[in-house]
Amino acid sequence: MECCDFPWTRVLHLLRCAVLAIALAVGLTAGLAALPAQADPRDEDYFTNLPLITSEGKEVAFFDDVLKDRIVVVNFFYTGCTDMCSLTTARLAQVYDWLGERMGRDVFFVSITLDPENDTPEKLATFKAGFNADRGWTFLTGSRENIDTIRAKLGEKARTLALHRTDMVIGNAKTGVWRRSSVMGSLTIALQSILELDPTWQNSTQTNAEALEAALKINTVYDLSAHPGEAIFLGACASCHTIGLGVRFAPDLAAVTLRRDEDWLKSYIMDPDLVLAAGDPVAQMLAEDFPGVVMPNLGLNPVDVEDLMSYLKAADARLAAAEQEAADSFAAFEAAHGLAEPAPPAN
Ligand code: HEC
Repeated sequence: MECCDFPWTRVLHLLRCAVLAIALAVGLTAGLAALPAQADPRDEDYFTNLPLITSEGKEVAFFDDVLKDRIVVVNFFYTGCTDMCSLTTARLAQVYDWLGERMGRDVFFVSITLDPENDTPEKLATFKAGFNADRGWTFLTGSRENIDTIRAKLGEKARTLALHRTDMVIGNAKTGVWRRSSVMGSLTIALQSILELDPTWQNSTQTNAEALEAALKINTVYDLSAHPGEAIFLGACASCHTIGLGVRFAPDLAAVTLRRDEDWLKSYIMDPDLVLAAGDPVAQMLAEDFPGVVMPNLGLNPVDVEDLMSYLKAADARLAAAEQEAADSFAAFEAAHGLAEPAPPAN
């Protein structure tokens, strides 16, 4: 399926700006790149109770079972997509983590496929499992007709799959406030606009971005423009990968510059889908290890890839230095306690 004609270099540029904008957003509470909030008591007459099917194979009535009385974040995706969808889902998953125990209690995420002919409940279940999204996150498929009706109601009018997949709709079905936002903008601002729909949050003291970022311990002072590789990594990779903090939705990238060939890494980071399609054995093994989530083709340019390589290499150098330091201090400890093997006799 064709899904890759998206102006990614531009999006990445915007993304980089968005990451930087987090720094500027401190104290700025109205940054939502969306329609102003409007009270618009849309109910089941508007959204309909058309049946859709969850990833568990359960039939649900759209308004009554999915939206009613809830704060919801609705986005569109499809599992066969090799570029944006897994990234947008991973970015939503970041917000999901921040929402913590509110997920499934105060806030619900709803991801609706744009490709119902292919996206069976089983495929949705595999995709969902890749993102550890067990609380309050519903993945939906259904008949093409029902999905088209519902996405039109939500203002999703893209005529081809490649368009508009970064939009999301945030709403409180109880108070009737609905907003449109993009999952590629600042995630803290997205988080805040979700929380603002909750009247109990509005009444609490933590209503500005500064308090929110302090609460989340997000460091906004660091100048990312001086570190282009890191800025790309944080904006485009860190929702799925960590470096040295374990598997998130994808392999831990610690030591990746040591375990993989440099040319392989560059082409894989640039065009993972092409490397996989060419039958590359490492790419195949990785794809088998992570069946739900797909390494996206982000349309990076060679400069982006060089910046990322420098960043990954620097991280690996720090890691190697820390390991060497640990080995040295262990050797010193052994020597001090007479545990070290005697040095081989010099000839
Ligand atoms: C949506 C999640 C996601 C995003 C975003 C993502 N990746 Fe991946 N990445 C994966 C998955 C999953 C794999 C494992 C292969 C697969 O299943 O496709 C992978 C594999 C890799 C590998 C191979 C790891 C190894 O052990 O050899 C590298 C390198 C890599 N990604 C780098 C990046 C970089 C750099 C970025 C940002 C520009 C990035 N990825 C963005 C999901 C992601």
